[in-house]
Amino acid sequence: MNEEYDVIVLGTGLTECILSGIMSVKGKKVLHMDRNSYYGGESASITPLEDLYKRFSMPGSPPESMGKGRDWNVDLIPKFLMANGQLVRMLLITQVTRYLDFKVIEGSFVYKKGSIYKVPSTETEALASSLMGLFEKRRFRKFLVYVANFDENDPKTMEGVDPKKSTMRDVYKKFDLGQDVVDFTGHALALYRTDEYLDLPCVDTIHRIKLYSESLARYGKSPYLYPLYGLGELPQGFARLSAIYGGTYMLNKPIEEIVVENGKVVGVKSEGEIARCKQLICDPSYLMERAKKVGQVIRLICIMNHPIKNTSDANSCQIIIPQNQVNRKHDIYVCMISYAHNVAAQGKYVAIISTTVETNDPEKEVKPALDLLEPIEQKFVSISDLHEPTDMGTDSQVFISRTYDATTHFETTCDDIKDIYRRMTGTEFDFAEMERKQNDIFGDAADQ
Ligand SMILES: *[C@@H]1O[C@H](CO)[C@@H](O)[C@H](O)[C@H]1NC(C)=O
Repeated sequence: MNEEYDVIVLGTGLTECILSGIMSVKGKKVLHMDRNSYYGGESASITPLEDLYKRFSMPGSPPESMGKGRDWNVDLIPKFLMANGQLVRMLLITQVTRYLDFKVIEGSFVYKKGSIYKVPSTETEALASSLMGLFEKRRFRKFLVYVANFDENDPKTMEGVDPKKSTMRDVYKKFDLGQDVVDFTGHALALYRTDEYLDLPCVDTIHRIKLYSESLARYGKSPYLYPLYGLGELPQGFARLSAIYGGTYMLNKPIEEIVVENGKVVGVKSEGEIARCKQLICDPSYLMERAKKVGQVIRLICIMNHPIKNTSDANSCQIIIPQNQVNRKHDIYVCMISYAHNVAAQGKYVAIISTTVETNDPEKEVKPALDLLEPIEQKFVSISDLHEPTDMGTDSQVFISRTYDATTHFETTCDDIKDIYRRMTGTEFDFAEMERKQNDIFGDAADQ
């Protein structure tokens, strides 16, 4: 490792692995190291189940009722992929899809006054939903048709709404939508975490609702996908990609020092040797002094032997509890997957609750979600700090990723990846351009 690299990457979380893959494909010489003996860092999938018990310092080993430990792959950070979202585009561009098998999540639900309802996002579903009264359904249906037809280049479709000036609050008012409908539209369709979007220009929200509807239209049951054997497959897929392009991977490497000269990174010291580099990418845990804490997330991994009530026995689903419904400032999310995804023993379900911490009794904050899951066989609780970089890397050429937030999809993670890409290269990450070039780049790789 006494060599010179273009980029050294520390940590094998998804963000780091995607960036490492993209940089390798672009012809950069990449060295990728992790202090752990496994891939994925904070976003690992833990297997066997015994390791999950150890990680959470549970007394004893898993009871016999949990089946074979090897059948479990439990995500520490639960997230789904939007079928038409940015991560799927990145997987397709880089052809990492060839290492993965996906299943569609069976349902997406939203919480209202103590009960859960299927999220309606098509006209037909809106009319059939018991979430709204008759008149409200008609108004919501009109709104969905309006959003589907909305085209920024065709003023006729906007009906007097200015995409850059009219707020989303104005648009909801135009369709006379009530508070509950506004709640599930903003939080379960547009996937906002807070209500700040209401007073911003409506165009982003309209795009987000379109993304949801178009993703849903692709496979029918929900807009979400999930990889068999757990999310840990994603960083590993990108690691394989990087390796095809000559990237070097090393696990189990203690990082002794990040070497900086005249304010700029020049290398990384591990086991007494220094590997030199021009740029460094790492997760905040490798360079705490250049990151700051911006909040906390609580996650509860819950193992059950039954599906969630009122989900038509779905073997996988998402439930969003909009902040307003439970008097909070942040939504609570539930992601559930099961043996059907090769992440649990036969007949077992894994539901993971997550939200941004608001009080000093975070476990009490997630009670509305826990109530939906009872009875629970085993529960694993974690509270982790959220970090973001204080050093944007302009001078130091050190690029630090953000901690994974409480959301249950990858859109914010992809925003971080694009942001780091822009700061590293000085150019925007252009999906369309990458997609055009895809055949040129991968024509060669296919031969190898
Ligand atoms: C489940 O459905 C029943 C019957 O429709 C309803 O009374 C109950 O409130 C629902 N519970 C939840 C948690 O959705």
